Amino acid sequence: MKFFVDTADVTDIRALAGSGLLDGVTTNPSLIAKSGRKMSEVIAEICDIVEGPVSAEVTATDHETMLAEGRYLRSIASNVCVKVPLTEAGLRTCKVLSDEGTPVNVTLCFSANQALLAAKAGASFISPFVGRLDDIGQDGMGLIADVVQIYRNYAFKTEVLVASIRHPVHVLQSAKLGAHVGTMPPSVIRALFKHPLTDKGLEAFLADWAKTGQTII
Ligand code: E4P
Repeated sequence: MKFFVDTADVTDIRALAGSGLLDGVTTNPSLIAKSGRKMSEVIAEICDIVEGPVSAEVTATDHETMLAEGRYLRSIASNVCVKVPLTEAGLRTCKVLSDEGTPVNVTLCFSANQALLAAKAGASFISPFVGRLDDIGQDGMGLIADVVQIYRNYAFKTEVLVASIRHPVHVLQSAKLGAHVGTMPPSVIRALFKHPLTDKGLEAFLADWAKTGQTII
């Protein structure tokens, strides 16, 4: 399973990229706004830090302008993945960009039928939002199970990118279902490393080691 970080904060991205465990980055207009920076500059900087796909989202709602924005975003760096919303215009734009060889991440997916349409439009990634479904009392992970099954049934190449991940259990469930990618806030990636028994065990090992008076090198 690939790990993407869902942020436009380059300090966090740089730190996580240093772990060697980061496979890509997703951003959205809200995250760009939160960064307080010009979109083209922040996307270019992220693309320099991370080799994998960096999702940059269009903000137009009509096909022609979305296409122009998508082509512009793709010109920023070769690892830009253009993100479009799951609307009719978004999928039309997805088809054209995908046919041109540009990877497209279709975002704001909340149903399996929407995911089916995105795969038919040639999307490289589909982003079903699990947390936002859970927030309204629906089954976010149930959607992931449905999409994974449908894509397997027809051998679609579109990767299931689990989005709106809120906690480590979402990551575990996504991995068990065979989702290709999870995008998560930096805090969730950091939480994956943690276990109280790891901390307790390490403390005991180091205390015993100190008693020996040895050093390894
Ligand atoms: C994914 O690409 C989205 O940017 C993101 O996962 C949305 O998460 P949120 O529902 O926590 O805002």
